[in-house]
Amino acid sequence: MDRIVVKGNGALSGDIPISGAKNACLTLMPATLLSEEPLTLTNAPRLSDIRTMTALLQSLGCEVTSLQDGKVLTMSSHDINNHKADYDIVRKMRASILVLGPMLARDGHAVVSLPGGCAIGARPVDLHLKALEAMGAELDLRDGYVHAKAIGGRLQGAEFTFPLVSVGATENALLAAVLAKGTTVLKNSAREPEIVDLANCLIKMGAQIEGAATGTITIQGVDSLHGATHPVVTDRIELGTYMLAPAIAGGEVELLGGQRELVGAFADKLEEAEIEVTQTNRGLKVKRKNGRVRAVDVVTEPFPGFPTDLQAQMMALMCTAEGTSVLEEKIFENRFMHAPELMRMGANIDVHGGHATVTGVDKLKGAPVMATDLRASVSLILAGLAAEGETVVSRVYHLDRGYEHVVRKLSGVGAHIERLQEGD
Ligand code: EPU
Repeated sequence: MDRIVVKGNGALSGDIPISGAKNACLTLMPATLLSEEPLTLTNAPRLSDIRTMTALLQSLGCEVTSLQDGKVLTMSSHDINNHKADYDIVRKMRASILVLGPMLARDGHAVVSLPGGCAIGARPVDLHLKALEAMGAELDLRDGYVHAKAIGGRLQGAEFTFPLVSVGATENALLAAVLAKGTTVLKNSAREPEIVDLANCLIKMGAQIEGAATGTITIQGVDSLHGATHPVVTDRIELGTYMLAPAIAGGEVELLGGQRELVGAFADKLEEAEIEVTQTNRGLKVKRKNGRVRAVDVVTEPFPGFPTDLQAQMMALMCTAEGTSVLEEKIFENRFMHAPELMRMGANIDVHGGHATVTGVDKLKGAPVMATDLRASVSLILAGLAAEGETVVSRVYHLDRGYEHVVRKLSGVGAHIERLQEGD
């Protein structure tokens, strides 16, 4: 298995271009299933999760063409000849469940494997299923699969209130409701920029949607959708991750394409920690205000709150901050697996339930560490930027799921980072 080696190398300087959002692209791609005409996505990130979604769509009969080295994806769902999303693909990536809503809306039936748990939590899909049931889906859970049918052949508009905010369930319901008969109102829906991006793309395809950014989405179902071309929104989690690089290592870095409104609560926290964040006409410029970073407390919440997907990276910053910080994880029950790895680098962290108390130390020390999930793996790389000596991160396939060209991007601003292939 490949490894990434990082050596603390002092201040960083230069630009990092930010890619299109993985999590937006993964919900935009299944939108192709809603139309017989082609959907083209530009600004797509080149990531293994996107290749997994490509394989899933192809297994259903979609044609997916990747242009400009994967930056442009053209998808055509003229001939959907298979309505079963197989366990072998779904188990690799939970976002596969997002084909359920659109297949059901388009053809009135679908069979999709249940994803099962994952490293950061149990992550059930009950809310996806309840929202679809409210729209008239008949569901039968057997052999590890959801067998879904639209009663009467077509989903019906409905009012549904999510008991808790779920990004994926909102996406699945939205993808289904655009072709349902009548009006659907989704209350307590997620407001993440990826939801707004999905709604904007669907509107370009002819859908009638209002309120995607408000927590109540109203959808007037239409009979069919047409083709469209849509640029994937900037990846706010990649943006936040690289904003932390100069905060941790020192120096000044400009994140090209970054917009503050994508990372509002996170940027506010950085400023509280004595990091300066400036919007320029090219993106966001980040540097420390003074010397040492100040410890701040963090609570993860749905958008517009502090994102769970930046909690691990923020913890890496807090490891060398002045004072003690408490990070509270409220979205996933098992998302502190990076803590013991950071402790192997000399961090002082005490995890108790959904809280982690981090007391800043003067210096981290390089060590061999193991990535446990996508965001955990990048937090170890960030910590390595500030550590004395060499940090070797193994199991970097996690990183390939969500960070495009991480070595190129960080070495471009002066970091000492390289990837060793298996056997090196
Ligand atoms: N939940 C349920 N039932 C459901 C759905 C969710 O109980 O049917 C719970 C989850 O277990 C969790 C909470 O609701 O405790 C929120 O989960 P949500 O559904 O919002 O998460 P998701 O859609 O599965 C997406 C991102 C995650 C990100 C979360 C939260 C994608 C492909 N994934 O997951 O991204 O952490 O929203 O913002 O969009 C990542 O990129 O590293 C990642 C894990």
